[in-house]
Amino acid sequence: MPELKSKPEKIVIGSQVFVPLLTEEKIQERIVELAEQISIEYTGKVPVFIGVLNGSFLFMSDLIRYVSIDCEIDFFKLSSYGDSQISSGKVKLLKELNCDVNGRDIIIVEDIVDSGLSVKYIEELFSGNNPSSMKVISLLVKPDSLKYKVKIDYIGFNIPSKFVIGYGLDYAQKYRNLKSIYVLDE
Ligand code: IMP
Ligand code: MG
Repeated sequence: MPELKSKPEKIVIGSQVFVPLLTEEKIQERIVELAEQISIEYTGKVPVFIGVLNGSFLFMSDLIRYVSIDCEIDFFKLSSYGDSQISSGKVKLLKELNCDVNGRDIIIVEDIVDSGLSVKYIEELFSGNNPSSMKVISLLVKPDSLKYKVKIDYIGFNIPSKFVIGYGLDYAQKYRNLKSIYVLDE
């Protein structure tokens, strides 16, 4: 096995330094708790986990591995920040969902809720398709950044309103492969 530096102490991007915020162990422990809670609450049901690409792909894959009830998955894609650290304030649907959510119990899987705009857009997108129920799980929430009234049913961690990377979250499409989450050291 090559000696890969999979747990760097810091990430330097130009003049910006990112430092550890949540370790791999802490993230995995919390995901186990969330998966157990969902497995209990959805006993007797077959929920569809719907991941919002790209950021949620790692969270989704770890989450469903700890879920102990039958479930299905699907993904769709929304426009992201582009290469910026600040939201454009607009959301676009880039890849549609394939499954029929009519009458299904759906759980939207997000990597991070910042302003809440994406979740608001998603709620409107799916409420017209008559799911039996709709809940939202987000690994991270920046409570001080919320601008839209959205309900996040399951939260991994509340974090400060600073830019984060790693574990699926990118900066200009990179750093998604980090196992821990790093925060911009300001
Ligand atoms: P919102 O629509 O403002 O809530 O932003 C949600 C989306 O913006 C997330 O799903 C992420 O893709 C992206 N995002 C928000 N904050 C960060 C961050 O700190 N790092 C990386 N991506 C982020
Ligand atoms: Mg996202």
